[in-house]
Amino acid sequence: MLTGKNAIITGSNRGIGLAAVEVFAEQGAVVWACARTRSEEFESRLKEIADKNAVAITPVYFDVSDKAAAKEAVQKIGRAAGTIDVLVNNAGISVEKLFSMTSIETIQKTIEVNFLSQVYLAQLVSRYMMKAKAGSIVNVASVAGIESEEGGVAYGSSKAAVIFATKTMALELGPYGIRVNSVSPGFIDTDMWAGRKDEIREKILSETPLRRQGAPREAANAILFLASELSSYITRQNIVVDGGRRGGGETYSAICLNRFPAIMILWDALKQKDYDDDIKEWKKNYKRM
Ligand SMILES: NC(=O)c1ccc[n+]([C@@H]2O[C@H](COP(=O)([O-])OP(=O)(O)OC[C@H]3O[C@@H](n4cnc5c(N)ncnc54)[C@H](OP(=O)(O)O)[C@@H]3O)[C@@H](O)[C@H]2O)c1
Repeated sequence: MLTGKNAIITGSNRGIGLAAVEVFAEQGAVVWACARTRSEEFESRLKEIADKNAVAITPVYFDVSDKAAAKEAVQKIGRAAGTIDVLVNNAGISVEKLFSMTSIETIQKTIEVNFLSQVYLAQLVSRYMMKAKAGSIVNVASVAGIESEEGGVAYGSSKAAVIFATKTMALELGPYGIRVNSVSPGFIDTDMWAGRKDEIREKILSETPLRRQGAPREAANAILFLASELSSYITRQNIVVDGGRRGGGETYSAICLNRFPAIMILWDALKQKDYDDDIKEWKKNYKRM
């Protein structure tokens, strides 16, 4: 699916990022696995994955919020790889605090790591993609950026910005053959959930139709889909990976259900006779529901 494609993945030393390294390697990608801190454990894990899948995986170290280091890293990858086909903006931090208790510095830091770093890396990488007239950028957002929850002023706002920027980038980069999409995970089993109270976990599970937490690979598979040619005509989208709890599905169907009667009345008013019978039929059924 990604044979020979150069893919940059940030936050690749654990969680969803490491799972993305695995699924990308399994599909033949040349992976540039970015992490903040050098570690032997990380490098031996990468070697194991590379050997198992007979692909090249190179560790690259930088803090995504350090602009100079990010630029140097992308230039280094660009020089070595020649082209950059995929960027997965995955690195992120979680903050859960009531807004009145969240310092502006915390909000700034969260926006910097979760949002601005993604935009900056996309700016750097898109230059290579524009030359090649091809590429796929996948930004990891969150369901927290779609529906507000208490305690989400820093994290949720940063992820809402990611979803919005993704759609804007897709508009601007589409004419160059570059697709830009986001993945919004829900409750995925990574360190990000470490230390959260049992009641919170139970509440989330009770609201999740699939009644279980997602595995990192399940989020990584959505990233893989958007990175690969399987999604070649998909851009400007946000895929929700949350077991059906929230995100697109619920919001979208709620909007449709709320607005559909109003749309029908408008149609009536416009006297679209062709649809009158259909509308009457639908109204009868709608009342019975
Ligand atoms: N798990 C979920 O349920 C969930 C839900 C919604 C969205 N997400 C999003 O999914 C992405 C991956 O999260 P995860 O669940 O895999 O979390 P995780 O296990 O906590 O991993 C976070 C990754 O981001 C890296 N990172 C954080 N700050 C960085 C920085 N300044 N520079 C470079 N790397 C940095 C971490 O590196 P270090 O090891 O050096 O800290 C780590 O590799 C994040 O964007 C997160 O917001 C996760």
